[in-house]
Amino acid sequence: MLRRFIGQASVAQRCRHLSGRQELVDSVRRCSSSSAAGLTKVPLGTTVEQAVDAQYSDDYTSQPSAKISVDRSGLNNPPEHSHEPSTDSELVKHLKSIIKFRGGPISVAEYMEEVLINPKAGFYINRDVFGAEGDFITSPEVSQMFGEMVGVWAMCLWEQMGQPNRVNLVEFGPGRGTLMADLLRGAKKFEKFTEALHIHMIEVSPALKKIQKLTLKCNDDDGDENTVSALTGTRVSWHATLEEVPTGLPTIIIAHEFYDALPVHQFQKASRGWCEKMIDVAEDSKFHVVLSPQPTPATLYLLKRCKWARTEELSKLEHVEVCPKAMDLTQNIAKRISTDGGGALIIDYGLDGIVSDSLQAIRKHKFVNLLDDPGSADLSAYVDFPAIRHSAEEVSEDVSVYGPITQSQFLGNLGINFRVEALLQNCTEEQAESLRTGYWRLVGEGEAPFWEGPDELTPIGMGSRYLAMAIVNKKQGTPVPFQ
Ligand SMILES: C[S@@+](CC[C@H](N)C(=O)[O-])C[C@H]1O[C@@H](n2cnc3c(N)ncnc32)[C@H](O)[C@@H]1O
Repeated sequence: MLRRFIGQASVAQRCRHLSGRQELVDSVRRCSSSSAAGLTKVPLGTTVEQAVDAQYSDDYTSQPSAKISVDRSGLNNPPEHSHEPSTDSELVKHLKSIIKFRGGPISVAEYMEEVLINPKAGFYINRDVFGAEGDFITSPEVSQMFGEMVGVWAMCLWEQMGQPNRVNLVEFGPGRGTLMADLLRGAKKFEKFTEALHIHMIEVSPALKKIQKLTLKCNDDDGDENTVSALTGTRVSWHATLEEVPTGLPTIIIAHEFYDALPVHQFQKASRGWCEKMIDVAEDSKFHVVLSPQPTPATLYLLKRCKWARTEELSKLEHVEVCPKAMDLTQNIAKRISTDGGGALIIDYGLDGIVSDSLQAIRKHKFVNLLDDPGSADLSAYVDFPAIRHSAEEVSEDVSVYGPITQSQFLGNLGINFRVEALLQNCTEEQAESLRTGYWRLVGEGEAPFWEGPDELTPIGMGSRYLAMAIVNKKQGTPVPFQ
């Protein structure tokens, strides 16, 4: 999303020194020798005071919005949270009740998941969060060319698969459904392709599901299984997970700005080793971040991620983010592609390396505090592309992983330049302006040099901030444009 263009610099600034992979492994092992998950316990032989003093002595640079403060009593003796008269939102009450019920803090990942997709009050659940009136804007909303180019990618893969008569086209987190609608409109002339498709939308939000049905011109009365898009006569079904999508057909999967919404665990290096950042309730009844006194279950994913990292990479880190859901989802995708054939395209804001400390909250196009009024702001984290690659390769020898390449390379090599020129031939001056700025946002880098409007509206290019990766069944050969 346009929202995160400034984040990468701050990640780099936050990197500190750590003496290497072995130290990381040793420190986690040391901690692991005590009980695995016990947040309310301390490692054997360590007093609570020692553990907490160690936290105080660590030099911590937090992200601007989420300041760490360690409440000594809170770790072993969670305060009673229920006596405060409060005007807390339903979601805040719910989060506090989980913390109270557990008798201790929750992980950043659990906080993130509740904030985004809690079935009653999650950020995505009840409203349209996109566009100028919403909280952020995404590439499909910037220009129709984005969905069209993704359509070109999907059609090329279908060709490489030998033009099967039936194919599943799965989209994770389709937002307003704009990408899929532009893909179908762009592919309309290729009837053999659109007739072969059965579209499967994986969406958690009832509100967005309704909007997707409108965008794809599907009849809302037909339930989630039997709809047809009037755009091309293509069948469309909705699901909560990939497991619900029927197996047995070659499958093309698209995940645009989906992985960044998956919950991340955050770790910070302390003098006693890697500790997980957790969300607790302070005595003033506000959320705050504390460090786990000993390893948590997610530490296993941290170890796994670090095994895949280069020593030089690890030596710079004081903070690490890992996304177990991204790793698990990738393995499900890779398994599906290896048994059914096909491929997946993942495009997101992320890094071709381990991610340090990227989680951000954005409300109405502005960065806000991560812990402020949860559920009213989007939370998103950089995608760790090497973790996706390794997860896929670990689970199947029948798939190959390509990229990441930049969005600008991806769209450029698929021919977006020709497309924008064709569209410019036949449009009004106003549409031409919108095409030019849209094109820049998709493939440019930094501020648009041609912009003559107000400074605050200067189009910012996402061409190198966004990366594209493909996971493809080896039988299909190398997908365009990753050759
Ligand atoms: C950042 S938006 C991206 C929307 C769209 N792909 C785009 O580019 O405009 C994330 C989307 O993923 C959906 N989503 C988030 N978490 C999900 C989950 N765990 N399962 C299914 N959908 C989810 C949201 O409701 C939303 O549609």
